[in-house]
Amino acid sequence: MAKNKTVYACSACGAQFPKWTGQCQDCGDWNTLQEEASYASAGTATLGAKKSARFEGFAPKAKVQKLKQVSLSATPRASSGLAELDRVLGGGLVAGSIVLLGGDPGIGKSTLILQSLALLSAKSSTLYVTGEESAEQIALRANRLGVSDADLALLADNQLEDILAVALEVKPSVLVIDSIQTLYTETLQSAPGSVAQVRETASRLVRFGKQTKTIIILVGHVTKEGALAGPRVLEHMVDTVLYFEGEQNSSFRLVRAIKNRFGAVNEIGVFAMTDSGLKEVSNPSAMFINRAQENATGSVVLVSQEGTRPLLVEVQALVDQSSLANPRRVTVGLDNQRLAMLLAVVNQHAGFSLYDQDVFVNVIGGVKILEPAADLAILLAVLSSFRGAALDPNLAVFGEIGLTGEIRPVQRGLDRVREVEKLGFTRLIMPKGNVSGVKSSKLDIVPVTTLEQAVRYAFD
Ligand code: TYD
Ligand code: MG
Repeated sequence: MAKNKTVYACSACGAQFPKWTGQCQDCGDWNTLQEEASYASAGTATLGAKKSARFEGFAPKAKVQKLKQVSLSATPRASSGLAELDRVLGGGLVAGSIVLLGGDPGIGKSTLILQSLALLSAKSSTLYVTGEESAEQIALRANRLGVSDADLALLADNQLEDILAVALEVKPSVLVIDSIQTLYTETLQSAPGSVAQVRETASRLVRFGKQTKTIIILVGHVTKEGALAGPRVLEHMVDTVLYFEGEQNSSFRLVRAIKNRFGAVNEIGVFAMTDSGLKEVSNPSAMFINRAQENATGSVVLVSQEGTRPLLVEVQALVDQSSLANPRRVTVGLDNQRLAMLLAVVNQHAGFSLYDQDVFVNVIGGVKILEPAADLAILLAVLSSFRGAALDPNLAVFGEIGLTGEIRPVQRGLDRVREVEKLGFTRLIMPKGNVSGVKSSKLDIVPVTTLEQAVRYAFD
């Protein structure tokens, strides 16, 4: 395409230039110029003048309304076909909403999408655009998933203008782009997957979705380090950001909402990857507890909370004499800084000094627990390993620890207690601040206010 369709804009000051230079001539910053579609060209892309005037340019002038006059029709939601996915979406897909599904390559994004679309296509029209795989590959996967007779429209293409033209014709209610990194628009010269292409194609899809009330699901690859930052630049453009995560060596997969304009965040959906696709795990609570051995030292069951759902996870610790000047503090699935802080608290307020010990703490099953309610479980696991004393296998714990050694209440105490009951544990150490209103005939509840008390109960 002609050169004058793109400009180079400084990401620091916004100045625009016809050519790329290493330094912005305006503000003097280095390496800030990025290719962008110039405004005129973005409006008259290949769709043709008439269509683009309707769908690509400005929407008809909006009226000013009083807040109280805005009519509130209940947000209509369509089920994605998978209850675990609906849970993360806040109850289903909202008409006209744009969802970004990010995750490592190979984690199962295409599988999840194909399963969901196959179920969705029974009720609504769907269009699956694949820029990565051929139609045959998708058909093969559908075969494997047992959904090959689904009424699903497939398009193997990666040129944005083509895709929009097809979408205008097919008028799907759900449009999936797998993946946004493979799309390119003719108005930019940079390669597919570059930040400029990702941003431009996504923003035009978002505009298309809003104007035609189409639900759009954008699939995007992210590496753990966020290095290939493609999808990150999209997070502010879309309504909902979901991340699909899991460990390489585990079949469990979690879908997590990072941002949701139509529901709660930090909600998780749990799946297991099998030979025939993803299976929903509707009661995942017991899944992360793996107690092969009774009386193992260094193991504690934590009652955690993910979104609206309590989750019991096993925290394991290993404390070992260190040969290093700076003993190691290593965590997997937990905050490293927090562990260092907790070790200082246990030294000051419970009298155990671990300054010459290596401390490793791990959460089983590849889950990440970042809430402070994990504090007590972490310290009890550490002390259990340090003292070589196993804890009661029927014990579960939760509670935040403050710097003065006090045990602080946490959110949703009652939900956690109910979950512990449900899974047949018999003893629960919890913050005293959470016990009001909690009654249980099945559980021996131990309310504590200080770390010292908790340690005494746990090891008695
Ligand atoms: P895929 O959906 O292609 O991942 P992504 O789109 O995120 O890159 O899934 C990749 C992996 O899932 C692949 O290594 C094979 C595995 N898989 C199964 O184990 N069972 C199945 O039924 C399917 C379809 C895939
Ligand atoms: Mg894929």
